[in-house]
Amino acid sequence: MNNFVFDNSTKVAFGKGCVREHLPEFLEGCGERVMLAYGGGSIKKNGIYDEVTQILREAGKTVTEFSGIMPNPTYAKVLEGAELARRENVDLILAVGGGSVMDCSKAVSLAARYDGDAWNDFWRNQGTVDFQPIPVCVIVTASGTGSEVNGEGVITNEQTKEKLGRDYHACNARLALMDPVYTFSLPRRQMVSGGFDSLSHMMEIYFGKPDGPNVSDDLNEALMRGVIRDLRASIADPEDYDARSSLMWESTMAENRIIKLGKSTDFECHMMEHALGAYTNCNHGEGLSVLHPVYYRHIYQDGLTKFCRFATEVWGIPAEGRTKDELALAGIDALAGFIREIGMPTRLSEIGITEENTDLSEVARSCEINRGGYRALTAEEIEQIYRECL
Ligand code: NZQ
Ligand code: ZN
Repeated sequence: MNNFVFDNSTKVAFGKGCVREHLPEFLEGCGERVMLAYGGGSIKKNGIYDEVTQILREAGKTVTEFSGIMPNPTYAKVLEGAELARRENVDLILAVGGGSVMDCSKAVSLAARYDGDAWNDFWRNQGTVDFQPIPVCVIVTASGTGSEVNGEGVITNEQTKEKLGRDYHACNARLALMDPVYTFSLPRRQMVSGGFDSLSHMMEIYFGKPDGPNVSDDLNEALMRGVIRDLRASIADPEDYDARSSLMWESTMAENRIIKLGKSTDFECHMMEHALGAYTNCNHGEGLSVLHPVYYRHIYQDGLTKFCRFATEVWGIPAEGRTKDELALAGIDALAGFIREIGMPTRLSEIGITEENTDLSEVARSCEINRGGYRALTAEEIEQIYRECL
């Protein structure tokens, strides 16, 4: 394994009833002025808004609402939130939602305390956060991104057509409250999309060196098998608490930095999805489900050992009677079969992206190239992958 420093400062309270149980005590030490950040209103329909605002009232907080955070949050929305947070002099941002609300809130916490060009200094370029962002507490209503336990805010700049995220430890939420029951009201499509996003994170981390036995990949294989099992069970019965709670924690485990330790990671598929998202506003998990198998058929020979291990350890495919190439491809086929089984899109056209409405060459040229995976792509190959996905 490579050398590492492990640091993850987010405290997590998990399980049925955890918001009522843990939020009041946390609020005691947080100052008087709270910004309640949320999305398009699902929390008003499922009762979470009522529960949280009652707790805030009982704690005697002055509450400023920052609502309407959209899926794939924009930088304009971040600036709106930062302006509001400054004006109201808030002591805490309480983010209630999925990845978009959590990401936007972390970005607001940073931008509100920074006088320069935050986009340029923290998103377009890797910056140094040598000041204290506004403290953030998150209440997760949609699992998948793992945003609750990292310092990343993935933000879309509509003007420059960039969708970027960087992980700043200072932006980690102080507390993440994770009640699986809060996710029960998610529409099936979003539940599946989030579950697949978790599997994608695990694969992006898995397909990087070292290739020999190591504990990060061992844990990762258990998580991948778990997310496949729990997604199947959650589709069969969306209110299966055991499956939904396990699915929720698997998402967190993928992104709390633990299975990344000592490893090089890929995340090129995420870069390709983010570039597409910046141009088309597509759903994150659905963009990934289309791209993954096609991308892996391009690179598997560069990481043959790990792709063979993926086939045997994650999908249970016997190695006997197969060449390494056949085994690796059987693993990728199993992934593609799973994507079809859970009803996720397999073509860009299914999510409204066509050659006519999207300049794939321009999107490919805007895509960030990562160097942590088995092979760095070129813009030409990225364009080719997009075209094969049409
Ligand atoms: O807007 P609201 O009302 O909250 O509705 C949302 C939204 O329409 C709805 N929803 C959430 N919880 C619900 C619910 N509906 C009913 N009941 C509930 N309990 O679901 C829709 C999608 O929500 P969103 O937050 O956009 O989904 P997700 O959690 O998949 O987040 C996606 C965003 O996270 C970024 C993605 O790029 C995308 O912008 N990512 C963040 C990462 C991170 N911070 O580490 C890593 C990921 O790879 C990803 O890039
Ligand atoms: Zn993701």
